[in-house]
Amino acid sequence: MSAIRVQFVCLGNICRSPLAEGVFRHLVAEAGLAAHFQIASAGTGGWHAGEAPDPRSTAVARKNGVDISAQRARALRPQDLDYFDEIRVMDRSNLRDVEARMKGKHRAQVGLFLDDAQAERAEVPDPYYGGPQGFDDVYALVLDGCAGLLARLRAAHGL
Ligand code: 4NP
Repeated sequence: MSAIRVQFVCLGNICRSPLAEGVFRHLVAEAGLAAHFQIASAGTGGWHAGEAPDPRSTAVARKNGVDISAQRARALRPQDLDYFDEIRVMDRSNLRDVEARMKGKHRAQVGLFLDDAQAERAEVPDPYYGGPQGFDDVYALVLDGCAGLLARLRAAHGL
């Protein structure tokens, strides 16, 4: 059995997608399914490559029992589209950016992260220029989306 490869993508890979990576990994571990998944995140832009997550994301994660402090930002690579099975993007701008890099056939199913959430929202808003409340809102959406994604993948793969 090969692992299901999941990548979360936002703009900078320091606020939203690192949270999704950490929360999804946490849920997968809690379910005892760590061996079945390979989990990563990336940014459509590379300005923050090599950096730790935004301290506000690290703080909201820690407050909720999730440690994302060891994660480091990296830019989306063209080959990611042929490596990952699922690429889940945080907003429509991310979706346009990823789709612009698609050339012909590719492995990944690319879609909006919140397509799997209960919330009637399409996008996880970029919290970078806002206050700390924005990060609580993002956390709630990320948890919702991650739970829905895990449920969908478990059903699809009989896990
Ligand atoms: P993210 O947030 O896409 O959720 O990581 C942002 C981080 C950095 C910038 C924009 C959004 N920035 O412009 O540097």
